[in-house]
Formats: sequence, C-alpha cells, structure tokens
Amino acid sequence: MLVSAKEMLVKAKKGKYAVGQFNINNLEWTKAILLTAQENNSPVILGVSEGAGKYMCGYKTIVGMVEGMLEELNITVPVALHLDHGSFEGAKETIAAGFSSVMFDGSHYGIEENVEKTKEIVALAHSKGISVEAEVGSIGGEEDGVVGAGEVADPAECKRIADLGIDFLAAGIGNIHGKYPENWAGLNFEVLGKINEATGDMPLVLHGGSGIPDEMIKEAISLGVAKINVNTECQLVFAEATRKYIEEGKDQQGKGYDPRKVLAPGFEAIKACVKEKMELFGSIGQA
Ligand code: G3H
Ligand code: ZN
Repeated sequence: MLVSAKEMLVKAKKGKYAVGQFNINNLEWTKAILLTAQENNSPVILGVSEGAGKYMCGYKTIVGMVEGMLEELNITVPVALHLDHGSFEGAKETIAAGFSSVMFDGSHYGIEENVEKTKEIVALAHSKGISVEAEVGSIGGEEDGVVGAGEVADPAECKRIADLGIDFLAAGIGNIHGKYPENWAGLNFEVLGKINEATGDMPLVLHGGSGIPDEMIKEAISLGVAKINVNTECQLVFAEATRKYIEEGKDQQGKGYDPRKVLAPGFEAIKACVKEKMELFGSIGQA
C-alpha cells in the first residue's frame, strides 16, 4: 500500500538521515527503484514530474502500475508516490488519481499567491491523508520544462509557508537541476541553517541531488535535510549502460534485440545508482 511521505520524513529528520526521491519514467525505472528499496530495507519516494506523468499515459496509469508492483513484487518497505514540481491543477489531479504525496511548487508566484495556493492544496490533500511539499526560493537550471532562477530562499518566507501545515519544505539554497556547472558556488549552508532554525522540526528537501559532492550531502542532512531528489544521475547511468550495450553490438547477437535484453543493462545501472544514493543518504535499514 502506498503511504504518505510525512511519517518517513519526520523519522528521517529525527534520525539524521535522508530518504531519496527517485524520479520514474517507465516500468523498468519503477521496478528498479522499488526492488532496490526492498533489498536494502529502505523507505523510498517515487517522484513523477508532470511531463513524465503525460509520458506514462496519465496519473491513473501510474497509480495502477505502482500499486500492482507493490503487490506482485511483495514490496513491504514504505513507498510514497509523489508529484514532483506540481502545478496547482496537477496537484489536484494527482490527489484525485490516488497519489499518496504531492509537491505544489508555487515558487514562481509571489509569496502571497504561493501562500494562498499552498493553503488550498494542504486542505485538500490532508483531507485524504496525502502529504504536501511546498517550495520557497527556486532551484536553478531546468527539469522537464520547470525552469528556476536559482533564487536563494528567505528564511522568514520559509517559516510562513511551513506554518501553513505543509509536511516538508523545499528551499532554494544554491542547488541546481541537471548537471552542476564547473564554477558552481556550492550549497549555501548559512541560509540552510537559518531555514532549519526558523522552521523547527519541518523536514527539509534538497532538490537537484545529482552530482552534489558527498560531503555537502552529509552537511545538508546535518542541517535538517530529510529528503533528497535525484533524477539526472539515474538518467545518465541508464543512457550510458544502454549505449554501451548497443555500441558493443550486443543487440546484434542472438536475440539481443529483445527489448527485455536491451533495457536490462540500464535497469541494473539504475539499481546500482539508487543503492549508492541510499547508502550515502543513510536510509538503508530504516524501513
Ligand atoms: O525534482 C527533482 C530533482 O530536484 C532532481 O534533480 O535531476 O538534478 O537530480 P536532478
Ligand atoms: Zn526538483
């Protein structure tokens, strides 16, 4: 059964570790992440962007696929199905479709509009036991059409949004979606510390989790980050493993063109990447 992400993240913040949100794109992606979580006794959050939602035929298809896998793969660790960077409409649609968690990303609105819209989503989601993530400041770069200026969050605004009763908070602290540029200034730990102080027990979310040095990840966790989103790194390892299989001509040998064979190296690469992140985040054995 899908669960809200609230309990797993409150527990993670108290225990000083983070739960990974890994974005899904298809059946192989979903199966690889769920099996890795189960094998490592780790809670996990499956992230779905609105673009990936459309790609996978819509939110109901995704709920059906994930719920079917939980049952038929005997997944017993806590799993949340979470809308990533949702619009106001997208949040409502995923709540209706059976997601167990939603992000309403109102960061591109002014603070007053962000507050009003977030409040509405919180009321709707909580009436159904669904957890809510909100965002203040913005994440740099671009993910699936969501573009951010990389504006560092104001701790006072973070407190205003946290006080609306959201379950976890994403704040811009110099993090960027996609690959980090060589001249990246790093995470702003001074601001993260202030946000953590201002928001108390609120689990904080670090977006743009691909390519951040391990030491920075650990410091972010020590300053209240309890959820870390990873997407690009899984895409990179999947593409690399698939390319290698094709370039080595393995699809030309025997029945190497069978899609189940072509996709197998990428599937294994995602599993290895997710396991490595779970080790780094400290979520292994925490289910
Ligand atoms: O919302 C999802 C993420 O923030 C993932 O970022 O693609 O840089 O890992 P990433
Ligand atoms: Zn993100």
